[in-house]
Order: sequence, then C-alpha cells, then structure tokens
Amino acid sequence: MLQRPRGTRDFLPDEMEQRREIEGRMREIGRRWGYREICTPEFEELELFTIRSGEGIIQEMYVFEDKGGRMMALRPELTAPVLRMYVNEGRTLPKPLRWYYFADCFRYERPQKGRYRQFWQFGVELIGVDSALAEAEIILLAEEILSATGISFSIHVGHLALMRSMLGGIPEQEQKRIRMFLDKKDFDGLSEYLSSKGRDDLSASLIQLASCRNLNDVFTITGDLPEKERIEELFSILDKAGITYILDPGIARGLDYYTGMVFEIFARNLGTENQVLGGGTYRLAYLFGGEDTPSCGFAIGFDRVMVSRGPLAPSHRAVAGIAHTLEGREWAITAAREFRAAGIRTELDLSGRSLSQQLSRISKSADYALIIGHRERENAVVTLKNLTSGIQKELPLPEAVLEVTRSEPR
Ligand code: HAM
Repeated sequence: MLQRPRGTRDFLPDEMEQRREIEGRMREIGRRWGYREICTPEFEELELFTIRSGEGIIQEMYVFEDKGGRMMALRPELTAPVLRMYVNEGRTLPKPLRWYYFADCFRYERPQKGRYRQFWQFGVELIGVDSALAEAEIILLAEEILSATGISFSIHVGHLALMRSMLGGIPEQEQKRIRMFLDKKDFDGLSEYLSSKGRDDLSASLIQLASCRNLNDVFTITGDLPEKERIEELFSILDKAGITYILDPGIARGLDYYTGMVFEIFARNLGTENQVLGGGTYRLAYLFGGEDTPSCGFAIGFDRVMVSRGPLAPSHRAVAGIAHTLEGREWAITAAREFRAAGIRTELDLSGRSLSQQLSRISKSADYALIIGHRERENAVVTLKNLTSGIQKELPLPEAVLEVTRSEPR
C-alpha cells in the first residue's frame, strides 16, 4: 500500500470542518481590521529565499530544477513571496497595504507533533508604513485572532536594537550565533561560545539583558539608543491597549530579514513545538528590486493552533436523506433541490435498493428521512420521518422544508 509522504497529513471531513471553522474566524477578524486576502505561487525561484531568509530555512527547503534548468523552491514561508509580489504588482497601490494569506508552506524538518513538512500559515503583512502604531496594530491584531481561536497563549515582544547595541564591533556571523544562544535561553552555551572568542566580558550583561522584563532596566543595561523613543512609544501603546505581554529582549527570530520589533507567541499547553506565531518589522522590498519599503507582519502556525485547541464541540446542522422508489425518482430529485436551496445538507439515495434498506442506511447518518414513492408523487407531498423521535408525517414539500429548517440551531 502506498503511503503519504513523511511529515504530511491527510484530513478527513470531520477534521476539515474544524479547520475551516477556525480558519474562518481568522479570516473574519483580518477582514474587520481592513486586511484583504492575497495569493502567491506555491513555488518560486530559489533565489527569492536565499537572498535573506537565513541559514535555517535554506537548509530545510524543498529545492528542484525545472525542465528549463531553473532552480525552484517550494515556499517555506510567505513573507518573501508577498514582498516579491508587492514589488511586481503593488508598488503603485495606495499605502499602507494591508494583506493577509492563508496558505501552505513546506520545510524539510524532522517531523513530530506540531512540526510538519507541509503546514499552513495564516499571516498578515502591513506594507509601506514605519511607526510604533503600525507595529502595535500587528501585535494587537495577532492577539485578537489567537483569542478568537480559543487557545491559551503568552505574547513575547522584543526589539533587535537592544541586543545589537551590545554587540557592536562583533562580526555579523558571530552576532547571529550569539543571538541564537540567547533566543534559546542557552546561557551555558553562550558563555562557552563567548569564551572561545575571547569575549568573556560580554556574557554577564547579555544574559542580564535577555532576562530583563522591564523597559527601564533594559535601558539601564543598554544605555541610550537611537531607537529608544520609538521602543518606548510601542510599549506604551501596548500598555494602554490593555493587552498582556512579556517584554523579551532575548528574541532573535530564525529568519534574517527582521530589522526592529520582533514578537513571538507561545501556546501554554504545548510542549517543544509551542511557538504558534512569529513576526516583526522587516525590510525586504529593496532586495527584490523595489524601493526600500518598511513593513511588518506575522504568521500563525495554523496546525499548531489546531493541536493546542483540541477538538471543537460539534455544531450540529440537520442532515436529510431521501429514500425513493423508481416511480418517485423525479419527485425525489425535485425535493432534494428544494431542501438544498433552503441550505439543508441533503443526500439522495443512490443504491436503488428496497425502501426499508435505504431507510436503514439513511438512519445511520441523517436526522431526517424523506420517503418518496408513487403515492407521494401523485399527491405532490413527501413523507418526512424524524429519525430521532421516529414520528412520521405526510406534508407538502414546502412544509417539510420548514420543519427541518426550524429544527436547526440558530
Ligand atoms: P516563522 O516563525 O518561521 O515565521 O513561522 C511562523 C509560524 O509557522 C511559527 O511560529 C510556527 O507556528 C509555524 N511553523 C513553522 N514551521 C513549522 C512546521 N514545520 N510545522 C508546523 N508549523 C510550523 C515566518 O514564517 C515569517 N514569514 C513570519 C512573518 C510574517 N514575519 C513577518 N511577516
């Protein structure tokens, strides 16, 4: 038996219905905030991602050569494609642009619960605005969307300028290593690494900074920074908006395009793969041939939200099944059309077996059975059986439709 590829999943209808429900809540909040959906190709030229996405992602990419000899990659994320699209199609649109996407991404990672090789992101990009208010909008929007999914989470907000201010004079590659140790809170690893580079002096203050949870303490360690006012403004907006967050100067992010504010959200009930969202301020457009355009955004790991959520209570809507004889067939098709037009999920029996066999099959999956034979057709009525109560009555078609619609929860 052939199996699906490792790290991918199949979704049966029950699970798909739940995914669509949660996806719908995310889309609806995006819409209310003025974000409009966009769509980019599932594969792009490899170079789009090697320019600035960072080591980690490059090593995990699905790369292939197409028949024209061009190197392509399945998208590992959507920020680079969206900014490529902005440069190609959106430069003349009035800014700021508020765009969102719900799309699958591909990363060749070691699969485990919450970590897949094909996974879905719900993301937003706010393009063409550079302000503390724009950054705050992104964080507040993330908070509202995740709250609507019903998961329990904590928001960590940082700013790359804080760590950067301590690492002046250190080569970029080494800075990256240092930020990664801090991001993982691997303080022993950090001390060892700094020691190997002859920079033991930095260890204590970096660890102190990464552990700071209060802006005054942060600036005591870093001293005055050009970004100070901007950072203070952002946190002041967040405080006044009344959301709960943790100031976390240690956040580094795994992608290389971030320039300022960075934030991550963690689900409280998940294990190692508990990061359900990542985002921040970045500049990418200029690397793709556009003007230098400030942007910020985030992406939610949709599959992790679903793991954190667990199953939803089923929202039951009535299902009707139609049993019919050969003489009743045309009338059954008409009845099915009327039921469906009223929004009722209606399945016509296709087996051609006896009415009692059809009814026994219908009773396994439906709430109502319609029975249609010669007599019903002649009298332009249907026999409607409530499969829960067992009550059966003969009704004109519009009344049968009404009876089933009235039984549905509002
Ligand atoms: P990212 O942190 O690489 O950021 O991914 C965003 C989210 O996708 C993660 O927080 C995680 O929940 C989910 N995710 C990542 N890898 C996997 C996986 N293998 N399986 C399941 N879920 C996964 C970005 O992708 C940026 N483009 C976010 C962004 C948008 N920054 C600015 N705008």
